[in-house]
Amino acid sequence: MTLDPALARLLRTMPKAELHIHIEGSLEPELIFALAERNGVALPYPDVDSLRAAYAFSDLQSFLDIYYAGASVLLVEQDFHDMAWAYLQRAKADNIIRAEIFFDPQTHTARGVPIGYVIDGLTRACDRARDELGIHASLILCFLRHLSEDDALQTLQQALPYRERFIGVGLDSSEVGHPPEKFARVFAQARALGLHLVAHAGEEGPPEYIWSALDVLHAERIDHGVQSVKDPALMARLAAERIPLTVCPLSNIKLCVFDDLRQHNLRDLLDAGLVATVNSDDPAYFGGYLSQNFIETFTALGLDANHAYRLARNSFEASFASPDEKAADIAVLDQHFADAGLPIPA
Ligand code: ADE
Ligand code: ZN
Repeated sequence: MTLDPALARLLRTMPKAELHIHIEGSLEPELIFALAERNGVALPYPDVDSLRAAYAFSDLQSFLDIYYAGASVLLVEQDFHDMAWAYLQRAKADNIIRAEIFFDPQTHTARGVPIGYVIDGLTRACDRARDELGIHASLILCFLRHLSEDDALQTLQQALPYRERFIGVGLDSSEVGHPPEKFARVFAQARALGLHLVAHAGEEGPPEYIWSALDVLHAERIDHGVQSVKDPALMARLAAERIPLTVCPLSNIKLCVFDDLRQHNLRDLLDAGLVATVNSDDPAYFGGYLSQNFIETFTALGLDANHAYRLARNSFEASFASPDEKAADIAVLDQHFADAGLPIPA
């Protein structure tokens, strides 16, 4: 099945926000090898092709093992800048005008990399993106849920001198067996600091994890959340409270959450009135950046220009931009549809 070329062009060119991208998951094999050489880090793969050949995952954990190994080449501020700058240039090509970028400080501090190197390098790339690319990029600090809450609390303390450099906190890594309530105290502290709150829930884990992300952590957005369709009461709540889901279709296929993109439930989520968005998660590992996620999903599910508008609009509404910024982003989207001669759906 191929997509109508005009729809494919619309998906690529429409302004959009990306709200679920792990910056360490944007490290392409070529950059991993370049940084390994620059930093004298030995990799367990002889070349780029053999590393890429290892990207065949059976579930989330099988991916995370390789993802953390890939991040081992990041040592100094320049590395974090270079990684984020590479992503932001790709974001520009996809006409992403706003990006809220996850980073995993514990992956680096556990190797002795100071958190300041991580945050300084990422901030410098985000500042550059604003000046040179016209992209509003901000950072969300994620806690690794396979580690203890004490480790997360320590990480939040280490990040406090950089409080103005990130807009929120999130929760990622191995989901099953690490329910949101394990992180109740650290999320309460982050909330008291005025940080935005998001959490991965219902990627592989059950709907109960989504309930506790909302009720215990007070998450404002749910990352993934595709398992919510198993729980009609949860679906009703997500729709009524307009709690966004940051859905990552290609990730879900690569990590075997769905067997095939044609079985993905994005259309069901939209039909149920949920504020679903499309995102790339770890694009260097999952076969595509944001526009590719749109194009493959629209092809598989037979979605149309009205869905494109709804998803782009949801991405702006679900962002942590101010009401004025959201209105401005949506005006840019509306203008794009008007220029393309497309009606703006009600
Ligand atoms: N870290 C990077 N990608 C992730 C994902 N898809 N789920 C949980 N943690 C992650
Ligand atoms: Zn993720």
